[in-house]
Amino acid sequence: MLPCVCVLLLVASALAHLDEATLDAQWDQWKVTHRKEYNGLDEEGIRRAIWEKNMRMIEAHNQESALGMHSYEMGMNHLGDMTSEEVAEKMTGLQVPMNSDRSFTMALDDKVSKLPKSIDYRRKGMVSPVKNQGSCGSCWAFSSAGALEGQLAKKTGQLIDLSPQNLVDCVKENDGCGGGYMTNAFKYVEENGGIDSEEAYPYFGQDQPCRYNSSGMAAQCKSYKEIPVGDEHALTVALFKVGPISVGIDATLSSFQFYQKGVYYDRNCNKDDINHAVLAVGYGVTPKMKKYWIVKNSWSESWGNKGYILMARNRGNACGIANLASYPIM
Ligand SMILES: *[C@@H]1O[C@H](CO)[C@@H](O)[C@H](O)[C@H]1NC(C)=O
Repeated sequence: MLPCVCVLLLVASALAHLDEATLDAQWDQWKVTHRKEYNGLDEEGIRRAIWEKNMRMIEAHNQESALGMHSYEMGMNHLGDMTSEEVAEKMTGLQVPMNSDRSFTMALDDKVSKLPKSIDYRRKGMVSPVKNQGSCGSCWAFSSAGALEGQLAKKTGQLIDLSPQNLVDCVKENDGCGGGYMTNAFKYVEENGGIDSEEAYPYFGQDQPCRYNSSGMAAQCKSYKEIPVGDEHALTVALFKVGPISVGIDATLSSFQFYQKGVYYDRNCNKDDINHAVLAVGYGVTPKMKKYWIVKNSWSESWGNKGYILMARNRGNACGIANLASYPIM
């Protein structure tokens, strides 16, 4: 038996050696790809250590995926030198309101019995390109703007990028880059008499004084509705009857940070800790009968599957996707 062990050890150490050199090359490549520059070797050392830990975690996950242990794969992306805590702190920003007025809750029309097996509003020209919120807790503004864009396209046939910066700067009930909530944004657009287009009021990614100008107004909002809390069937009905829906999820896990493809399901996802706003733009089912929501994020096209993630549907309200869902009425 001994020679066998020796050979194995030799092979293992050779692989580890190769691994280190490969990692060095991959790190250099990654820095170039994502234009990363660091303040000195100390900072680079810290970032490199986080990146390497993430690389090994991604590799371990994908090996398990290949064995059929997960329904999704992970991949390195531009968030590779950040911990999941840093991502949650810098790039989410959903504030959950304490009290919710029930009068804004969607009435469930039980007559909707014939729901299609799948819907994808990207194919209906109701979803704008994926954006990048940057290091600003403005997810709520991108989610709200996306839901408004969907209703605008449905109503007028025109897909126009609306201004998240308008919402970041002007929704007083929210906290700009410090975080906010979608129904406050819908209420602002209603009371303000409109929201500017992205072209008229471009994204800056930092809090600024409100510069809304009605000459750049591109959409209006009459009111809004909220999905009954935790009701995935109601969310399905809303997607079918209304269009893209603003949703809140738990996005703090590193599995979410590095999601790449497949149907995302992590049993550590906490449905009672909603911290990130995104946009549900459809739903469907894989050939292996895994049901999913199609979700648009605002972490650029470098994240996920070209900026999108498929999240497990009808699996115990995973990540709490049906807990804080809402849509504007145009
Ligand atoms: C609003 O936009 C119009 C057209 O660009 C411009 O003439 C006007 O000065 C702007 N108003 C304010 C308050 O900035």
